[in-house]
Amino acid sequence: MSPSSRKFGFVVVSNRLPVDRIEPENGEGSWQRSPGGLVTAVEPVMQANDGAWVGWPGIADREYDAFESDGVHLVPVALSEAEVADYYEGFSNDTLWPLYHDVIMPPTYHREWWESYVRVNQRFADAAAAVAKKNAIVWVHDYQLQLVPAMLRTKRPDLTIGFFNHIPFPAYGIYSQLPWRKQILNGLLGADLIGFQRGADAGNFARAVRRSLGYSAKGTVVEVPEKGPDGAPAIRSVIARHFPISIDVAGYEELAEREDVKARAAEIRHELGDPDVVMLGVDRLDYTKGIGHRMKAFGELLEEGRLDVRNATLVQVASPSRERVETYKTLRDEIELTVGRVNGDFGAIGHQAISYFHHSYPREEMVALFLASDIMLVTALRDGMNLVAKEYVASRIDDDGVLVLSEFAGAADELKSALLINPHDIDGLKDAIMAAVEMPQRERQTRMRALRKRVREHDVERWSASFLDVLSGVNPDRAPDLET
Ligand code: G6P
Repeated sequence: MSPSSRKFGFVVVSNRLPVDRIEPENGEGSWQRSPGGLVTAVEPVMQANDGAWVGWPGIADREYDAFESDGVHLVPVALSEAEVADYYEGFSNDTLWPLYHDVIMPPTYHREWWESYVRVNQRFADAAAAVAKKNAIVWVHDYQLQLVPAMLRTKRPDLTIGFFNHIPFPAYGIYSQLPWRKQILNGLLGADLIGFQRGADAGNFARAVRRSLGYSAKGTVVEVPEKGPDGAPAIRSVIARHFPISIDVAGYEELAEREDVKARAAEIRHELGDPDVVMLGVDRLDYTKGIGHRMKAFGELLEEGRLDVRNATLVQVASPSRERVETYKTLRDEIELTVGRVNGDFGAIGHQAISYFHHSYPREEMVALFLASDIMLVTALRDGMNLVAKEYVASRIDDDGVLVLSEFAGAADELKSALLINPHDIDGLKDAIMAAVEMPQRERQTRMRALRKRVREHDVERWSASFLDVLSGVNPDRAPDLET
């Protein structure tokens, strides 16, 4: 059978494929695996269930045939340069992203961007419909593809459709700004099951459905009025509830146990000048992450002499992200200005206040950094989950280290033994940093043990299995039993 006519019983749809196409100017193109948590979670399910993955290869104006990679059938969806600008950078990342993150930055509303979003969502839906077997399970991911569930249902009513929103879903007072608020809700309601990170996100969604569409939404069930097969009015139930995502805990633990990784952690501390306190921030360079707030708090602690640059340092890894979007360009300038100022004002020879890196690192290096750091600072102003918080905890197999965690990150619902902070309250943040610096070893250990227990018991496999269990249960007469 030619690869293009093969059909699959389980189909994942996300904006990005789990591989990126790399095309150097002089040289051969290649596929590079992207190391995201979603791949780790879904890959074993795909391999066990004859799965296909539909997504964009991360490069404009290129058409690629479907191909196999690590036992998974990958179906690339092409985007033109204009669609990357309008659907991806525009509507997804300059309209929906700021709106769904509580308008930390003002969202931009452009009708052409919306039109592109509709067209591209239809292309993803068509590609998924083309590879799905009769009665297949299709799992659609994230805010870039919110219209896909309804588009799929129209084309393929036999499918069982799940959707997972990886980012927050805002309160109705904010959501209602969106000129296309009804279309998006109707798009999502094409799914049988809609998953969110926090209970509050699912609640916000249910409220939006009631207020905007007038449908009944009680508990976790939304009642969508439809026409039955005989044309008579009928009700279709859609489940909307939370399934907090997690990480590949065992993978992080394995790395943390490796002698070379431990040696690298010791080397990092040494290269930083063997300070008493190493603090760490690891984020995509995004305005939702509160990187500036963290640096402000740290700078003030140095200024007030509560911390001394000769024995306290901050390492900030900021991985490049969405670099053509204006708000991200401005943010980079602001952060780099702040780093320069803090280092200029408080650094000493051989003792840099902030070590700042604008690149991404392989997982081994990240785990070494986690092990080298006494305090992990997660100060997001709004975040769907924040997997870095969980990665830090999973890596601390020595039961040491303190997690300072924003209450506005989804992870705060689960990681209650962290030092929870409000990043807007700079004095509160400074006090929490000092409490972390001064925390006795016994308390660090008790807290880290409790955090590790939670993360180990709720890893990413459990997340995908619980979502897929509920999803395959909604149409028991049709949906295949997935091996999870
Ligand atoms: C967030 C989103 C993902 C997205 C990732 C990286 O985690 O929830 O959907 O893939 O950021 O952003 P990018 O725009 O590079 O895909």
